[in-house]
Amino acid sequence: MSNLQILKRLYFDYTHKFLNKILISVFFSLIVAGSTSLIAFLLDPAIKKIFIEKDKQLMVIIPFAIVFAFTMKGVSLYLAKNTLIFVSGEIQKILQLQLMKSILNSDLETLDKKHSGKFVSHLTLDVGLIQKLVSDTILLITKDTLTLFGLLFVMFYQNWKLALFAIIMIPLASIAAKSLGKRIGKVSTQAQEASGLLNSFFLEVFKNHKIIKIFQREDYEKDRSEKYIEEFKSKGVKILNVMIRATPIMETLTGLMIGGLIFYSGNLVINNELDINNFFSFLAAMMLAYQPVRSLATLNMGIHQGISAAKRLLPIIDTKITDKSKGNNLNITKGDIIFRDVDFKYELQENKVLSSVNLKISGGQMTALVGHSGAGKSTIMNLIPRFYKNLSGNIYIDEQDIYDVSIASLRKNISLVSQDTTLFDDTVINNIKYSNLNASEEDLNDAIKLSHCEEFINKMPNGRDTLIGENGVRLSGGEKQRLSIARAMLKKSNIILLDEATSSLDSETEEKIQNAINFLTKDRTTLVIAHRLSTVVNSNKIYVIDNGKIAAEGNHKELLNSSEIYKNFYLKQLTKNENNL
Ligand SMILES: Nc1ncnc2c1ncn2[C@@H]1O[C@H](COP(=O)(O)OP(=O)(O)O)[C@@H](O)[C@H]1O
Ligand SMILES: [Mg+2]
Repeated sequence: MSNLQILKRLYFDYTHKFLNKILISVFFSLIVAGSTSLIAFLLDPAIKKIFIEKDKQLMVIIPFAIVFAFTMKGVSLYLAKNTLIFVSGEIQKILQLQLMKSILNSDLETLDKKHSGKFVSHLTLDVGLIQKLVSDTILLITKDTLTLFGLLFVMFYQNWKLALFAIIMIPLASIAAKSLGKRIGKVSTQAQEASGLLNSFFLEVFKNHKIIKIFQREDYEKDRSEKYIEEFKSKGVKILNVMIRATPIMETLTGLMIGGLIFYSGNLVINNELDINNFFSFLAAMMLAYQPVRSLATLNMGIHQGISAAKRLLPIIDTKITDKSKGNNLNITKGDIIFRDVDFKYELQENKVLSSVNLKISGGQMTALVGHSGAGKSTIMNLIPRFYKNLSGNIYIDEQDIYDVSIASLRKNISLVSQDTTLFDDTVINNIKYSNLNASEEDLNDAIKLSHCEEFINKMPNGRDTLIGENGVRLSGGEKQRLSIARAMLKKSNIILLDEATSSLDSETEEKIQNAINFLTKDRTTLVIAHRLSTVVNSNKIYVIDNGKIAAEGNHKELLNSSEIYKNFYLKQLTKNENNL
């Protein structure tokens, strides 16, 4: 998108919604411009009538008029800014909501590609810059341009020759502004990147603090943080430095102008072409014009910063998840899931993770995936709820391609206990209810009891209302897993995906939970990834996954004869179990 297209888009998508408010603000800007010009203009009669002609009546009226003009200017400026502060807040809110929505709807691939810290930086820094562009800039443009025109009018009115002389400076100022604007756009992109890196780093430190402590890497992390903080600082300083670069240029230009002006106007006064009252009024107008010219000259920077932020942010807002047919709802009858010639590659990986995977996960039964770690088991499971989109081949549920039905109807029917338990910093009960906000008290109690959560919930200080901390830090690994199993149970979905759901449990608890899982998965389509024999042996069908391919399939007995990998797995589990006894 070109800069102009971005500006257009920002205007129509955001600013346009608040056109009424903006027009109000433009109206007040007009009053600001009028009263500022009036102030400059009033100096002419003030000097002529009061100081030269000594008019007693006007000696009272003109000071009053000046007070009035200043008050008008102040009040209108307040009202104009006040209106735009409101608009600017609203636009910030809209942008953040859109970004949030887009992040919530994007597929895992998009989210995996970028550190969460960078998204945080988009949400704060970039939104702020765009917000500034779509609101502050409008005020500046209207108020300052109008004021400038008003003052120019006064200048020309007082003496057109002087006025012509003065406006030569305007193009000079704008050339300087243009090059600074481009520069600041570039630096602001770098600053955003630095802020993203710093955010990411901070988040990592919080997440990994245990590891940092045990490996005593505090100093190492401190040094690394210094690098990011330094980078962030230096970019911030750079921006501010570029911004103030306009100051010497502007001041020099002003000096040139005033010097030249005194020389030229001196000439005019000597030749009787200019009266002293006109000169003062002109001078006042010119000095008052300094502020709007200056701010218009630096306006370019704000615009470039805003545009470069929009270039980063809009593509994220625009990312649409490919939900081809919103109308088609998945209709589950038997609950058969079929993979046909599925090849899959993660965007960031060179090689295929899955190749020619053909599976049949029969409805109402339990199917297990076994294989070494890294074989591709979790990947297969994650394809079923459409977490990723770029696969070749097809996945059908009851003969409907999952990419042809709406994501909402697909996911409504699936429950998942993922390999890495994920919980929210909320109460125990809210974490369980997450899968079904309208669950009845009875179902809730059942889920808690069957998943054996009751035992530890009762010991907690506030029972079910105890806060469990960020991703459940205040719980043991097994307790976290039991919570996520309870959560999955409560959903009562047709399809259940269990990715090493019981790996953190001791064998006693696991056995108990196994009963609950059997209950949970009864007559439902279940796909389990398990490293425990007990789960696998009871499965109706087992697929052995090796290096992204199906190496063997069958039930426990068949596989013991046919698959070397499976036999090894079995023997290892057996010795493990014996050791446990
Ligand atoms: N999000 C991801 N991005 C890129 N590669 C991944 C991602 N997740 C897993 N992989 C790779 O895919 C392969 C299979 O992983 P996975 O399906 O998790 O194995 P399993 O569950 O069988 O242990 C691994 O080699 C891993 O490196
Ligand atoms: Mg896995």
